[in-house]
This record gives sequence, structure tokens and C-alpha cells, in this order.
Amino acid sequence: AAAGRLAGKTVTVTAGGTREPLDPVRFLGNRSSGKQGAAVAEAALAEGARVRLIAAHMEVPVPAGAELVQVETALELRDAVHQAAAETDILVMAAAVADFRPGELAENKIKKRDDGADPVITLVRNPDILAEAVQRRAELGSGPALIVGFAAETGDGTSSVLEYGRRKLERKGCDLLVLNQVGRSLVFGQDTTEVRILSPQDAPGTEPVAVAGTKAEIARHILDRIAGELDAPLPS
Ligand code: C5P
Repeated sequence: AAAGRLAGKTVTVTAGGTREPLDPVRFLGNRSSGKQGAAVAEAALAEGARVRLIAAHMEVPVPAGAELVQVETALELRDAVHQAAAETDILVMAAAVADFRPGELAENKIKKRDDGADPVITLVRNPDILAEAVQRRAELGSGPALIVGFAAETGDGTSSVLEYGRRKLERKGCDLLVLNQVGRSLVFGQDTTEVRILSPQDAPGTEPVAVAGTKAEIARHILDRIAGELDAPLPS
């Protein structure tokens, strides 16, 4: 087996942005480039892990050596994640999953109407795949030892980005949450970013250090933390 702190481990990474079809030629998408997820996959490969990359729409190449599962929609990504979970030690949910999808898929291209009426698109909620993965692990009593989520937050007048991150960590139930502050400098598509890694184990009132760097540097930071968590398992 390859040397590295994750030799013998299987890491599943979701990356990119899902696309939710409206008709045969149109979709609702998002600006995720897949850069952060690809960088995490690369860093996991460098640590000797077996890496499965569940890729929605990506604007960067898939790292050589990763096993690729190509998906398009949130529902396809969900199936791929749940299928992979049984043989995954570490699940990293870096994909930008659409929260909503069109309620119906038009069989034919939506046409401009002669009466000039505007089409109406109804959206329905997609499942929260990260929260589901956490829930399934609890139900089955098996699955990934570590489930890592991502959050891009802006904060608002009353709550800080950190407070939002803490609430999201609690709501999703994951083991680590990689918190990105967005807004002033948009993170999507960019090469550098700043993150804090939140854990349910953090002492109340503490502020985890912010680490800034390229997405490759951030990925190595995340993998350092993951390797550390595996060495010192969380109390269950
Ligand atoms: O709720 P929010 O979209 O901010 O949460 C982000 C995290 O949740 C990411 O890890 C993302 O991959 C995951 N997510 C998911 N299913 C959704 C929405 C987000 O797994 N429907």
C-alpha cells in the first residue's frame, strides 16, 4: 500500500455544482468550479488514500488516480453518496448541491408562448444529502468514521459567520464543518480562500483559527485535520 497517513483508507469526495434540468436543453445550475473538491481529492491521494470522486459539473480536471463517479443532479449525487457510504472511511461533501429542483421536467423544450404569457417554474426542495448521510450512519450503526461538510456563509447584521457555522454544524450533525466566509470576496471559482474548521468538540466560546491559502493549501490543511481526527477518534 502507498505510504501516507491515509494509506488503506477510502475517501469519498463530492465536488462541483449540480445541475437540475428544466427541459431537454436547460438546467438550473450554480457557479461552483469544483476546485476545492478536486484539491481535497488530490490531497487525499497524496496521503495514500483510495479516492472516489463523485463529480457534478466541474470546471477543473479530475485528479489522476481518483475513481470518478460522474453525476448531474442532486438526486443522482445522493444515490452515489449513499452507495459509496458503506465502503467509505471519510466522506467529504464539497459539492455545491442545489437546494431546489424544478418540480417537473418538461418533456420538450419550453417554448415562447403565442399569447405572450410568461412560463412559471415551480421549485421543490432537494434532500439534504449531508444530513442524510449522518442520519443513515446513526441508523445503520456503520458507515464513514468521519463526515465532513462545507459551508459558505455571509453572516448578517445580527449573527456572525461563526455563529452561522456553529448552527449549521449542529443542524447537519457532521463531524467537521469547513467554514468559508463569502460575500466581500467571492470564493466560488477563485483559487484562494480562508477557512475555519469547526467541530462539535470545540470548547464553547473558542474561535477556531482561520487558515488562508490556495485551495490546494486549504485541502492539505483539511487533510491534516482529518488525519489527526482518525488518530484520536471522537468520543461516540
Ligand atoms: O446548507 P448548505 O448548502 O450551506 O450546506 C452546505 C453543505 O451541505 C455542503 O457540505 C454541501 O455539500 C451539503 N449539502 C448537501 N445537500 C444539500 C445541500 C447541501 O449535502 N441539498
